[in-house]
Amino acid sequence: MEHSLKALQEKALKEIAGANDIDALETVEIQYMGRAAGELTAILKNLKDVPAAERPRTGALANEIKQDIEAQILERREALLAREENESVFDVTESYVPRRESGTLHPTTQIQYELEDFFAAMGFRIIDGPELESDFYNFSALNIAPDHPARDMQDTLYIKDHPTWLMRTQTSSVQVRAMREYGAPLQAIASGRCFRNEATDARHEHTFHQLEGFVVGEDVSFAHLKGILDAVARHLYGEDTQVRLRPKYYPFVEPGVNGEVTCSFCAGGGCALCKQTGWLEIFGAGLIHPHVLKEGGLDSKKVSGLAFGFGLTRLAMLKYGINDIRLFMSADMQFLKQF
Ligand code: DAH
Repeated sequence: MEHSLKALQEKALKEIAGANDIDALETVEIQYMGRAAGELTAILKNLKDVPAAERPRTGALANEIKQDIEAQILERREALLAREENESVFDVTESYVPRRESGTLHPTTQIQYELEDFFAAMGFRIIDGPELESDFYNFSALNIAPDHPARDMQDTLYIKDHPTWLMRTQTSSVQVRAMREYGAPLQAIASGRCFRNEATDARHEHTFHQLEGFVVGEDVSFAHLKGILDAVARHLYGEDTQVRLRPKYYPFVEPGVNGEVTCSFCAGGGCALCKQTGWLEIFGAGLIHPHVLKEGGLDSKKVSGLAFGFGLTRLAMLKYGINDIRLFMSADMQFLKQF
């Protein structure tokens, strides 16, 4: 009797430990402890057949085993319940969505989009031109003579084995392309990347952004140009901003001007940013040279035009007080995350 009790105990404990969920554990419990047909229950019921002398010993052992089995079942149940709880928190079947940091637009792109909206609202068409450009559209068509210093190898990135190809040095290259495609009247802006063969430093970069604007049509005048530049300046720096235009030579405009706005930092009083002048140089502009109109397929006796250009990169530097132009193309996340 004692022997079979011990064997039963061993078998029961093994099965309890091997029960992998609550249902399996319950089956084991019924198998041994069930009132009607439990194996241990049956032994306990038969204690009365054990010889009287052995009965107390056997009875005590049977009870001990019963308690042990009950305790083991309880313990196993708690362990299984705890496991189920953990599994419901970590559901391996759930689909995995990686957490991504959302980016922001590059500061130059932000300024570009903002100005595109502004010009579109004034009725300008937004157009594009290629970055890999021909010598013709970038220089010759813009009245820049073959011996003009701007064509010098030090300024322009030419394409190896293609003497007439280059990376555009200015968005003015879009002017004649657009005139040829759309004719007059036309008012359009083109913005994007420009490239120069620069020895880079805090103020010079090989890649930067410009925005070019032009209007061609009958009776387009210098007054229109002044009006547009005033509107841009007020849009960028506020209603009190003033524009100052001074003569400057650009081969593709006549007359050509250099446009300045009252310094947004000192309101014209003089500070380090404007080098104590009170003015910030922003625009190049003028009335389109007859040679350029002619290259664009337009009759300079019938139509006239105005053009202006400015550096988007420079605007972003002024707007955010950035003192090193190289940060813009650096892909430095610490810099970019600020915008
Ligand atoms: N393309 C000139 C530059 O890169 C800027 C410029 C000056 C554009 C005068 C114009 C203009 O349209 O009329 O420096």
